[in-house]
Amino acid sequence: MTALPEINPPLINASGILSYPEVFRAFEASGAALGGYVTKSVGPAERAGNENPVVVCPEDEGQPLLNSLALPTQSPEDWEADLAEIRLESSRLIVSIYGGGPDEFGEIAARMSPFADLIEVNLGCPNKVPGEVTLMESIGQRPDLSGEVIGRVREATERPVIAKLSPNSDYLAVAAACMDAGADGLGCGNTLGPGLAIDTDTGKAILAGTTGGISGPALKPVNLRMTYECFARFGCPIIGYGGIGSWEDAVEYALAGACILGIGTAFLGKSTSEAAGLTRRIWEGVQAYLGGAPFPEMVGRAHRDPAPEAARA
Ligand SMILES: Cc1cc2nc3c(=O)[nH]c(=O)nc-3n(C[C@H](O)[C@H](O)[C@H](O)COP(=O)(O)O)c2cc1C
Repeated sequence: MTALPEINPPLINASGILSYPEVFRAFEASGAALGGYVTKSVGPAERAGNENPVVVCPEDEGQPLLNSLALPTQSPEDWEADLAEIRLESSRLIVSIYGGGPDEFGEIAARMSPFADLIEVNLGCPNKVPGEVTLMESIGQRPDLSGEVIGRVREATERPVIAKLSPNSDYLAVAAACMDAGADGLGCGNTLGPGLAIDTDTGKAILAGTTGGISGPALKPVNLRMTYECFARFGCPIIGYGGIGSWEDAVEYALAGACILGIGTAFLGKSTSEAAGLTRRIWEGVQAYLGGAPFPEMVGRAHRDPAPEAARA
């Protein structure tokens, strides 16, 4: 396994949220406590994704978000041009990729490799344009195909490779195939569902794509469990994603086994300076919890140390 680059602090954005190079620069300039930045998933061609509305936003914090973007992205040529320009001061660049099949994943990995400190392979986006037939719907559910994808990416790049899993799957079987095929770690994980929201005025589905992936606080227990189970089984580096919006959420994911913590939905609706402030509060809270201990000591501790009461019993 290739070691992951040091990401310090171990906080990053989640792909699809604030995930374009000009935003990374603005975040760095505003003193965000992010040690790495993840691009929107880069695919084999420019893609519009679904028409609006593509997001059902929660009215209150604490509610889930639904999105049906269906992987809109600029062309790989435009990504290459943007990423060639990017100059991050102290943080790492993670390029998220997707494809229509193993060959395309391999091609995009090869093209993005020169710019990336780490390649994150998006195996499971639950959203598609209605009527579209796409393997992206099912790759993350199929251990054989996921393993083939990771194998092709492994051949195409010397960068560390993270397989980002879907919670809508037998993820331990998928993860086993990915680790066998040469993944260096796991992303736990993508959005759940998809789910549905109906507008009571029109009586119709709100999203143009009808259904959308669920993220935010409702996703946290699901992906936290995935993190916990994957750490117990593979003991590998894990990026935890899903509903992280406070230092307590971040600590839970770290105790479960995540060595890097991704923030997505919690950034939505915030200005750059508010979002940067949130990252600082989360990191300060994690450090206060650590009380001077190094962060890696906390990673996976839920599996190791008996609780003090249990130790006494
Ligand atoms: C609007 C939106 C767009 C997303 N786009 C991507 C994407 O392009 N690639 C990907 O791997 N995940 C994508 N995701 C999933 C997030 O990266 C993350 O795994 C998920 O939202 C859980 O984290 P959160 O609850 O903090 O948002 C997207 C999520 C949202 C809400």
